Amino acid sequence: MFLWGTATASYQIEGAVTEDGRGPSVWDTFSRTPGRVRDGHTGDVACDHYHRYSEDVALMAGLGVNAYRFSIAWPRVMPTGAGPVNQAGLDFYDRLVDALCERGIAPVPTLFHWDLPQALEDEGGWLSRDTSRRFADYAAVVAERLADRVRMWITLNEPFVHMVEGYGLGIHAPGRALMFDALPVAHHQILGHGLATQALRAAGAEQVLITNNCTPVWPASDSPEDLAAAETYDILHNRLFNDPVLTGAYPDLSAFGAEIPVKSGDLETIAQPLDGLGINYYNPTRIGGPGGDGLPFRFEEISGVPTTAFGWPVVPDGLRELLDSLKARYGDALPPVYITENGCSYDGLDDQERIAYLDGHIRAMRQADVDLRGYFVWSLLDNFEWAEGYHQRFGLVHVDFETQRRTPKASYHWLRKFLEAQSTDT
Ligand code: FCB
Repeated sequence: MFLWGTATASYQIEGAVTEDGRGPSVWDTFSRTPGRVRDGHTGDVACDHYHRYSEDVALMAGLGVNAYRFSIAWPRVMPTGAGPVNQAGLDFYDRLVDALCERGIAPVPTLFHWDLPQALEDEGGWLSRDTSRRFADYAAVVAERLADRVRMWITLNEPFVHMVEGYGLGIHAPGRALMFDALPVAHHQILGHGLATQALRAAGAEQVLITNNCTPVWPASDSPEDLAAAETYDILHNRLFNDPVLTGAYPDLSAFGAEIPVKSGDLETIAQPLDGLGINYYNPTRIGGPGGDGLPFRFEEISGVPTTAFGWPVVPDGLRELLDSLKARYGDALPPVYITENGCSYDGLDDQERIAYLDGHIRAMRQADVDLRGYFVWSLLDNFEWAEGYHQRFGLVHVDFETQRRTPKASYHWLRKFLEAQSTDT
C-alpha cells in the first residue's frame, strides 16, 4: 500500500518541555540563548501537541492519510541521553501510537530529528563517537516498547542539515561554527544509524529507513569552475550520506580538507541493508565556484521561478530529476523510496500556492522511474520552524499560537479530496 502521510518533529510541535521528566535538549538551550532564534521564539509550548495529540490525530483521520511521520524526543525517553529510562516519556508515544492505530494510521517514528539531550552535547554531541552507541541504546529502548505496533522506523532526519547548520555554520542547535571540521558529525551520525538499525531489528522492527535531505545540484554555467564546484557541492549534500549507507564507501572528500574518523568495521555497520530510503525534497540548488570565503563553491540564486514565503524556489520537476538521478547513481542499490518531507511555507488560510506546490510535486514524483512507496507532506500543522521561530508556516492546518486553535487551510481540504480519489482508484 502506498503511504500517504503528513510529517512533523517533536521539538517543532510538542511543547511541554519540562513535563513528565523530559530532560533538556540542545534546542531548549539554543532557543533560549538571545539572538539565536528570530524574535526569541522557543519550542516551550509550540503546538502543545503533547496535550492535544488526540485532536491532531483526529485532524489526520479527517484528512484521510494512512501514515504519520513524527519524531520521538530522545530527552523524553532518556533525559540525560544515556542511563535511566523515563517511562512517563515513553508512555506519551505509547498513547500516540495507540491513537494512530485506532484510526488506521500507520505510525512512522523518526528516532532523531535534531533534539539531542543536552547532557550528550555537553560530552561532545555528535562530534563524539560515543553518541553513536548511545543512539543505538536509545533506539533499542524505544523499539522494545513500540515495535509491536510500529512496522516502519526512521533512524535519522537529515544528518546533512544537522551537520551543516548545527555544527558547521552554527545557525541551528547546538550552534557550533566549525565549518568543515564538523565532518566527523557526518560519520558519527551514520554510524549511529547503522548501530541503531541493528538494535531496531534485534527488537523486532520490520522496516528501517534513513531520511536524507537531497537536492538536484545545478551548475551556474558550463565553465569548468562552476562544473567542478557543483560536483563538490553534490558530494557534500547528496553523496556524503547516501553513498556510505547504500554502497558502504565514502565519496572523495579531499576538497573539504578534513578527515572522517573511520575505524575498521564502521563502513560495514553503516551499510546495513535498508527497507527504504527517505528523501526530503524542497528545492534544487544552483552552485558556482569557488566561493570568495575559502569555500570550494558558492550559492547562486535560481531566478525565474515562484518562491515560497521563505524565499525558496518552487521547482516541482526538481523532484523528478532528483529521483531519476538517484536511480542513475545507485541502480539496484537504491531501495524503495519514500518522500518523507515535501512542502512549503505560505501565509493565509486560502493557500492556493500550497495546493499548486503539492499538486505539482506529486505529479512530478509520479513521472520518476523509481520504486516509490510513500509521500509525506511537511507539515500537518504550522509549527516552530527552527531559527525562524513561528514565522514560517508550513502547515496544512493553521495554528493560532495564542489560543492553540487549529483551522484546516484550503490545502487540507484539497488534499482530503485528492486522497479520497486515490482510495476509489485502487
Ligand atoms: C526540513 C526539516 C523540517 C522542517 C522543514 C521545513 O529540513 O527536516 O524539520 O524544518 O525542513
